Amino acid sequence: EWTPDAFVETTIAALQQQLGDDKVVLALSGGVDSSVAAILLHKAIGKNLHCIFVDNGLLRKDEYAAVLEQYKHLGLNIKGVDAKDRFLSQLAGLSDPELKRKAIGRVFIEVFDDEAHQVQDVKWLAQGTIYPDIIESVSVKGPSATIKSHHNVGGLPDFMKLKVVEPLNTLFKDEVRRVGRSLGLEHFIIGRHPFPGPGLAIRILGEVTAEKVSILQEADAIYINNLKEAGLYDKVWQAGAIFLPVQSVGVMGDERTYENAIALRAVESVDGMTADWCHLPYNVLAKISNEIINKVKGINRVVYDISSKPPATIEWE
Ligand code: XMP
Repeated sequence: EWTPDAFVETTIAALQQQLGDDKVVLALSGGVDSSVAAILLHKAIGKNLHCIFVDNGLLRKDEYAAVLEQYKHLGLNIKGVDAKDRFLSQLAGLSDPELKRKAIGRVFIEVFDDEAHQVQDVKWLAQGTIYPDIIESVSVKGPSATIKSHHNVGGLPDFMKLKVVEPLNTLFKDEVRRVGRSLGLEHFIIGRHPFPGPGLAIRILGEVTAEKVSILQEADAIYINNLKEAGLYDKVWQAGAIFLPVQSVGVMGDERTYENAIALRAVESVDGMTADWCHLPYNVLAKISNEIINKVKGINRVVYDISSKPPATIEWE
């Protein structure tokens, strides 16, 4: 029978055997998967694991600083890289979801490659790929064209010539969380919702600008904090706000407004492959809506997404 403790023990031994004294680079995203992969590797090879955490400017509000701090606290050998402007400038003018994903993937590889080159004699690239990532990226390559290209799968540029190590690629998300708990990772990291690699860029429908990112960060933070305060965050598999490129009429005091709308998404799921929308309590939705409309400049309407997957996807892009 599979247990997290046994998995940790055999995986650490296998990693030590496989990697010996080799150096390994790993991109941390702040998510559960890359964090658990990093801790496993850290336990196996210590300082030979070089972690790189890129700020793409598309993370949740205040996320970059909080997560970097947490990783340092865990003793990881980690370097934070501020690449916000590089990502934003490459996203300018792009509104197609796949073009946005490709641009983000490309910049990420460039930034990561620059950093990886600074690690002398690095031999391996570690990734936090889990089993459903592999299934999804294979299944979407049907004749009906790519649905979504998950850029963190097989994202290895040839010129890096690194071997790939993926210690979690047989696990489902709930197993990754159990492994994380067995490794002593805090709830702050283990309990967090999945967050897509392209980040808020695919929750801003159409073109991404710095202004839209900051509006969405504010709305999303209000949403997530309210879920936490209501004790609902841990009951939801994934939640987030989406910036809609739709303007609608409203009134604020005596003024007519004509501003953007925010959609709220919350789903229940086991592995993200299918999902049901969450029946969040009306009073919580009401509080979130009021707070977003009153506090976030540029938003005058909030809607709740009641679509399940399939046929809708979890993300809107
Ligand atoms: P969908 O929208 O396909 O999402 O129902 C399923 C799960 O995958 C995440 N997702 C992504 N993760 N890069 C990622 O790393 C991506 O491009 C991407 N697109 C979707 C999504 O957040 C959900 O957890």
